[in-house]
Amino acid sequence: MLLNKFNVGLFAFNASSGATLTKSKNRWKAETKQIINLAKMADDCKLDFLLPVARWSDWGGETSPHKNTFETLSLASALSQITKKIFLFSTIHANYIHPIIAAKALTSISRFSKNRIGMNFVCGWNKEEYEMFNINFNLSSSDRYKYGEEWLKIFNKLNDPDIDKFSFNGNYFKIKNGQNFPKVLNKKFVKISAAFSKDGRKFAKKHFDILLTMFNSLDTLKRVNEELKNNSKRKIKIYNPVHIIVKKTKAEAEEFYEEYSNKNQDIKAVDNFVKNLQWSNKKILASYLNQIKQRVSGSLGSYTIIGDKKSVLEQINTIYKSKTDGLAITFFDYSKDFKFFKKNLLNKIRKF
Ligand SMILES: Cc1cc2nc3c(=O)[nH]c(=O)nc-3n(C[C@H](O)[C@H](O)[C@H](O)COP(=O)(O)O)c2cc1C
Repeated sequence: MLLNKFNVGLFAFNASSGATLTKSKNRWKAETKQIINLAKMADDCKLDFLLPVARWSDWGGETSPHKNTFETLSLASALSQITKKIFLFSTIHANYIHPIIAAKALTSISRFSKNRIGMNFVCGWNKEEYEMFNINFNLSSSDRYKYGEEWLKIFNKLNDPDIDKFSFNGNYFKIKNGQNFPKVLNKKFVKISAAFSKDGRKFAKKHFDILLTMFNSLDTLKRVNEELKNNSKRKIKIYNPVHIIVKKTKAEAEEFYEEYSNKNQDIKAVDNFVKNLQWSNKKILASYLNQIKQRVSGSLGSYTIIGDKKSVLEQINTIYKSKTDGLAITFFDYSKDFKFFKKNLLNKIRKF
C-alpha cells in the first residue's frame, strides 16, 4: 500500500518519449525490457507507486511521441507479477473503457497483485483518440464530468460488496443486471482523478481519494493546495506531476534541458499538443502553454525541477512543505536518471 507519508512514484514511463516532445536521439524508448528493469528497480528501492499514461495515438511531428505506449490494465497485470510491494495504478479512460470491463479487469489485478492496484481516472481530451474510437465527444469540461459521474457510479456499484446485481438507466449508460465477481480485495480501492480545470478539480474532490494536478509556481503551490483541501468536504490528497533534471552541477542540468527541449524540440509535435488543448476547450491552458513551448517539449507542461542535487532536493522539500502528498515523477531517461535520483536523493526525501 501507499505507506510513506510523502508518496514518490514514477509517471508516464510506459510511453515512448515519456513526458517529452524531442528529437534527441537518446529520448526514452519505453521498450519492454526497459520497463521491466525499471519496475523491478523501483520496487527494490521501495518507491511508492508506478503510474502509467493512457494513450492510444501519438503526437505526430518528426518523432511521433507516445506511438509506442503500453495499455495500462494489461501492464499493471504484468508488473504485478514481477514486483512485490510497489503500488500500481492503471489509467482508465472513461470514454473508451466501459465501467464493467474496468471493474472486471481491476478486480482481477487486485486479486493477483494482492491488493496493490488502484485506478487513475481520466475523462480524456485528445481529438485523434476520440476519432479512433468514433466518439463524437467535443464536449465542454462539465459535460465530460457528467459522463464521468455516471461511469463512476456504475463502477462503484460493481465493486460494492453489498450489491449482487443492479440495473442502471442513465443519460449515457443503460445496464441490465450488471454484476462483477469477485469484487476488488480492498473496500477502500484507491482512486485518483487526473484533472486541471475547475470542473475537473471539483469532480475529483467530490469522488476521489487523490487529485493528480499540475502547478505553475512553487511560490503559489501552498496556497493552491490549501484552498483545494480546505474547500473539500472529503479528505483529499494531492499529487503533482514533476519533471526532474538533476545533474552534478546546475550548469550541466540547464545545458541538458536546453539541448533536448529547445535545440532538439520536435516543433510540429509541440504544435499538435497545443492545438489539441485548444480543440478540447482548454483555451487558457493552451494560450499559456503556447507561450512556453519549451516547457511543453521538456515536460508536457509539468513543473520542471532543474539543478544540482542540493537545489533539486530543496525544491522537492518546498513542494512537500506546500502540502503536496505525492510526486508523480517523470525523467528524460527513466533508467539512467532514475538511478542517479535513487542514489543521491531518495533517502534524503524519505527523511523529510
Ligand atoms: C496530471 C495529469 C495527467 C493526465 N494523464 C492523462 C493520461 O494519461 N491520458 C489522457 O488521455 N489524459 C490524461 N490527462 C488529461 C485528462 O484526461 C483531462 O485533463 C481530463 O479530461 C480532465 O480535464 P480537465 O483538465 O479540463 O479537467 C491528464 C491530466 C493531468 C492533469
